[in-house]
Formats: sequence, C-alpha cells, structure tokens
Amino acid sequence: MSAADPRTAPRQALTLDDYAALAREGMDPGVWDFLQGGAGEERTLSENLLAFDRRRLRTRVLTGVAEADTAVTVLGRRWAAPVGVAPMAYHTLVHPGGETATVQAAGVAGLPVVVSTFAGQPFDKLAAAANSPLWLQVYCFRDRSVTRRLVERAAEAGFEALVLTVDTPRLGRRLRDLRNGFRLPEGIVPANLPPGDYSSPSGHSRTELDPALDWSVVSWLKSVSPLPVLLKGVTTGEDAARALDAGADGLVVSNHGGRQLDGAHATVDVLAEVAVAAAGRCPVLLDGGVRRGTDVLTALALGADAVLLGRPVLHGLAVAGQSGVADVFDILVGELADALLLTGTPSAAAAGPALLSPAGAGP
Ligand code: FNR
Repeated sequence: MSAADPRTAPRQALTLDDYAALAREGMDPGVWDFLQGGAGEERTLSENLLAFDRRRLRTRVLTGVAEADTAVTVLGRRWAAPVGVAPMAYHTLVHPGGETATVQAAGVAGLPVVVSTFAGQPFDKLAAAANSPLWLQVYCFRDRSVTRRLVERAAEAGFEALVLTVDTPRLGRRLRDLRNGFRLPEGIVPANLPPGDYSSPSGHSRTELDPALDWSVVSWLKSVSPLPVLLKGVTTGEDAARALDAGADGLVVSNHGGRQLDGAHATVDVLAEVAVAAAGRCPVLLDGGVRRGTDVLTALALGADAVLLGRPVLHGLAVAGQSGVADVFDILVGELADALLLTGTPSAAAAGPALLSPAGAGP
C-alpha cells in the first residue's frame, strides 16, 4: 500500500480558518478579493473578528450534562443549531453547484439558508433541493415592481420569510474591487431578476437599488407579501425600537461583513444594545465574524437567538462543493456542542448573560 500522494491528498481542515486558507489557494485572486474584502481600510472587517477574539466565557462545572442540545426554535421552526447561512450573492461564482449545493448541505444539517436577491440559481430549483427553511434576502429596487415580483417568486417557491437589507443605500467603497476593476465573469448572473447588465456589482446597485428607503418600506413589503419581514443591518437600540414599531418581525444585527461603512462597530459589540431594545419581542440574529463555536455561544450569551454565517460557507463551497459546506457546518456545530458542554450549559436555548459575567452583574 503506497502512502497518499502529498500533492493531491486533501489536507485536513479542522477549523473554518483552515477552510479559508484552502479556498484561497484554489481561487482566482480577483474573486478572492471580492469575497473576502471589506470597505475602505477594512477596519470594521477586522474588528468583527477581533471583537470575538477579545471575549472569554465563564465555565460552570459538575452540571451532570453529558450531551448538550444545540437546537433552537426561530419563527416557529426548529433549527438543529442556532446557525443559518447569511445571504451572499452568486454562490455560482465559487462553485458550479452554486446555491443548490449550499441548500442541500444545509438541509442535511437541519440549518436554514437566507438566499440572496442576487442568487445565481432560480428559487424553484433551490426549493426543490431544500430540506430546511429558506428565507429570501430582499434588496429594494427603485422599480418596486421588480422587488414585488422577486418576493412573489420566492413565496410561490415556499420560502418562509423575507430579510430586507437596510444598510445599503449605496454599496460601500470596496477598495480591493476598485483596484482590481472587478467584474463578474461571463455567465454569472442573478437568476431571479430581469435580464440586464449585472457585470459590475457596484455600478448596477447604484443605478437600480433604491437609495432613499425610509421606514414605510416595511409596511409596503408587508402589504405585498404575507411572509414575516426581518430587517438586516440594524445596529442601534433606537433603530431596533423603531423597526418593531414599523412592524418588523425580526432583526439581524449586521454591518454587512464589514463591506459597508468602514468604521462601524463590530456587530458583537452592539448586539446587547439591540437585544435589550428588542426585549424578547422578536428574534434577534447576528452576523459578521462568526468563525468558531465559542463565537456562536458568545452571541447567544449577548442576546442573539441565532447567528448567520457568511464567508466560511463560500470557502467550504469553493473547496469541495456540497461536502465542503457540510463540513463547515459540522465543524462549527461540533465546536458549539463542545463549548456548551465545557461551559456547563445544557442547551443552546439555555445560554444567557451569566456566560460572560457573574449573574446579576450585567453583560
Ligand atoms: C455578502 N453579504 C450580502 N448581504 C446581503 O444582504 N445581500 C447580499 O447579496 C450579500 N452578498 C454578499 C456577498 C459576499 C461575497 C459576502 C462576503 C457578503 C453580507 C452577508 O450577508 C453577511 O452580512 C456577512 O458576510 C457576514 O459576515 P461574515 O460571516 O462573512 O464575516
């Protein structure tokens, strides 16, 4: 028996960062920069990661718990773990399996997927492959009939919720893409939007997306769809309260993975403020910089009901299609199960502020 050829044998990926390194090796540098980059000098992008790095968890012992339960319930649906896939444009850019492969991996893992307005594959195809909840991320177009048709298509396909992105009156200045003159390769197009020129993501969004949305967009969206509406990109207590008044059914604390305002706070640093304002009246999710099970647990301790995972999903997809995404979920959910057990927390649903500071001492 000969040893595996070290040039072709896949290296073992034990962490989500291992997947990032493997993905980078095989990827066109311009595509890597589009995926990985943030706005400006990428201070917020780095801060999303650093803010998790700074957190430490309190550990309780002798709790008699042999196996922690990672499952949670969000908007009435059971998720196998408090982790969903954040909306990201064009999964087809990194693997021909595209969103279908991601959705299939999520179905096996029992985790939901938020499908982007700019998904590279049609909603009905994704719905046919799905075995877990699908939500639609909505960008609001200047031409409201485009948004309306998009939302109707998703509802017809069986999507269960809408996630309106509210942090993008215009695209952030993504210097890597500007320096690279990044354009989407031929054949990478949004499968659920009318035909058009989408080759420059920043150019297209400047001309087509509505830059002047106000709170009335929430009631408009609810008037054209029966689905619950979550707002993605809320980062202050004031806006959380306002969103609930406007009729939002959930909040996603997000700075778009550091791709919008460079200089915005890390999401984990503003999570508690939003969760306090929401006061249990709606689910609060967080995305940005989640890379380990302890990050998920930290977010839960600060008041999140669940997190959404962005770039690492595309890293797994780029490395090995559906099985790469499945492995990314396995790693993260396995780490979360370990973190629950090792902090003496019986279940994800039981995670609370005492994980970060002594009970009664505040977060
Ligand atoms: C995104 N994000 C995003 N958000 C959104 O509302 N609609 C979209 O179409 C996209 N597209 C997109 C593409 C790519 C390549 C990336 C990396 C991100 C933002 C995304 O939903 C999420 O907020 C961040 O990616 C979360 O941060 P992490 O997990 O990537 O650090």
